[in-house]
Amino acid sequence: MCGIIGFCGSLPASEVLLAGLKQLEYRGYDSAGIAVLSENGIRMEKAIGNVSRLEEKLGTESFSGNCGIGHTRWATHGGVSEENAHPHHSGRVTLIHNGIIENYKEIWEKYGVGRTLVSQTDSEIAAVLFDSLYEEGKPEEAIWKAVSILEGSYAFCILFEDIPDTIYCIRKVSPLVAARVKEGSFVASDVTALIAYTQEYFVLPEDTILVLKKEEMYLENQGNQVKPELLHVNWDTTAAQKNGYPHYMIKEIHEQPEALHNTITPRMKDGIPDFEVDKIPDDIFKNIHQVKIVACGTAMHAGLVGKVLMEKRVRIPVTVEIASEFRYQNPIIDNRTLVIVISQSGETIDTLASLRLAKSEGAYTLAIVNVKGSTIARESDYVFYTHAGPEIAVASTKAYTVQLAAMVLLAVRMAYVRGIREIEKIKQDYEALKQASEAVHASLALEEEIKELTYALTEKEDLFFIGRGIDYALSCEGSIKLKEISYIHSEAYAAGELKHGTISLITEGVPVIAIATQKEVYAKMISNIREVKARGALVILITQKDTPVESSLYDYHLTVPELPDEFTPIPAAVILQLIAYYTSVHKGLNVDQPRNLAKSVTVE
Ligand code: M6R
Repeated sequence: MCGIIGFCGSLPASEVLLAGLKQLEYRGYDSAGIAVLSENGIRMEKAIGNVSRLEEKLGTESFSGNCGIGHTRWATHGGVSEENAHPHHSGRVTLIHNGIIENYKEIWEKYGVGRTLVSQTDSEIAAVLFDSLYEEGKPEEAIWKAVSILEGSYAFCILFEDIPDTIYCIRKVSPLVAARVKEGSFVASDVTALIAYTQEYFVLPEDTILVLKKEEMYLENQGNQVKPELLHVNWDTTAAQKNGYPHYMIKEIHEQPEALHNTITPRMKDGIPDFEVDKIPDDIFKNIHQVKIVACGTAMHAGLVGKVLMEKRVRIPVTVEIASEFRYQNPIIDNRTLVIVISQSGETIDTLASLRLAKSEGAYTLAIVNVKGSTIARESDYVFYTHAGPEIAVASTKAYTVQLAAMVLLAVRMAYVRGIREIEKIKQDYEALKQASEAVHASLALEEEIKELTYALTEKEDLFFIGRGIDYALSCEGSIKLKEISYIHSEAYAAGELKHGTISLITEGVPVIAIATQKEVYAKMISNIREVKARGALVILITQKDTPVESSLYDYHLTVPELPDEFTPIPAAVILQLIAYYTSVHKGLNVDQPRNLAKSVTVE
């Protein structure tokens, strides 16, 4: 949460910062601000709203200087106001911050004497602390002293008024990456802000100060220089643009066939999933008696599908845990537990904390992550990188379907190494996964039809998703997608559970999206659909193509190609994504940046 960028070099800093902030906007878009150092001192500008509002405010005014910092905010501490927008200033210090300072009260009581605060933020109190500890010409000393006092999480970029053209950075938990290129030195919350200049970057290690200057950049730890570990991203600037699509979300929905191909193909050898490229050893599948899948939001929903797949194939207990709950529930884990954490960003704080907890209990840990070099990827014992490319829209789409593919591959490999599934069946699973990825094209071909039918949803206040088994797991994802971007209240229900309370909410015209792709429980599902139809529901039914369906059961009928039951979530997810997308578009909402949300949740 919150996007950070810093630049020192040969280009006009304000232009570089604004362009970088636009790339980082998905991390938070309540307000934005920049501060630029020039021979006349530090100049700062802030605006409520997204980066274009800041840009409008700056207008054509020249903002001279080649060194500066920029921030796009997701409010945690203090409301959305210009005063609370970053950068924050105190005495000789101007800074931007991503994270939460937990002991801000104590710091203020001890170091704030005689000062006045402009904002209600913990970040301004951090600026007070840095300034109180700063002795002229000794910025590093002030930083080391400050971080020994600060509690919580932080990524700071700091300007000291009397030190020209230099930015000091330090982080704990909250991410920062950096790159040195011919135009100068860059630091940012993530690599999307740097990609216009380079594909080589490094992650700033914790407890290390990064110093950015026009001519150089270096890392130091208590006087010792530290060598950065360079990483390479295999996508370029076009992957992080809309490329002619009106929104990132619809572009990312359309990128799914490629994302799936890139994720699946390197992991197949002779029709059997193989993780040699990932260096994931078979021991972690053999030596275990239980699996715990831990994640948040959409990633957790991918885990729900994974549980069904894994339990069926491996006959091992699999639980799916919400990371923010798991970490505080004293979970039962031992050294024969495999903990699979799933995270697109690799930075979600609760997922990260759960990973750390699992490691401390001696479990094997495996992370399914999309962002290369992210904290979760670095800290996990083993990493399965999904290759979705950058996902910018807050609503996760392509990251979800590749997580589903990852779950299939893991479940099948686990069954293979444990010797409980015949090779023939394993090869059939692979074929089915390939077919499911191909079937995404068929779902995308329904786009116009879905665009039309979603006009029927725009005025609705409540909506229900129902399904059984793996379709129920998918319903959870359909529901979060719709509510986060259309603001329609929506719930996912196991279809058989409706009668135990929720059916009282089904009245004339209430939309029910019924996912009935599982042949095994199809007859039961049909009974449940009859129940809601009898009470006046507007039914959007999703089935496999050749399933016979009575037309009196639905108002709209969408199909996915024929597939083995457990593989339908991949193409069916695409239908649900399109339903959410067009409902939001018809309502004229900000699809890519829904209210109150941010892409990467780095606070608890
Ligand atoms: O980066 P992560 O996968 O760890 O993020 C987890 C959730 O915050 C995320 O999936 C969220 O639920 C999405 N915005 C939903 O579309």
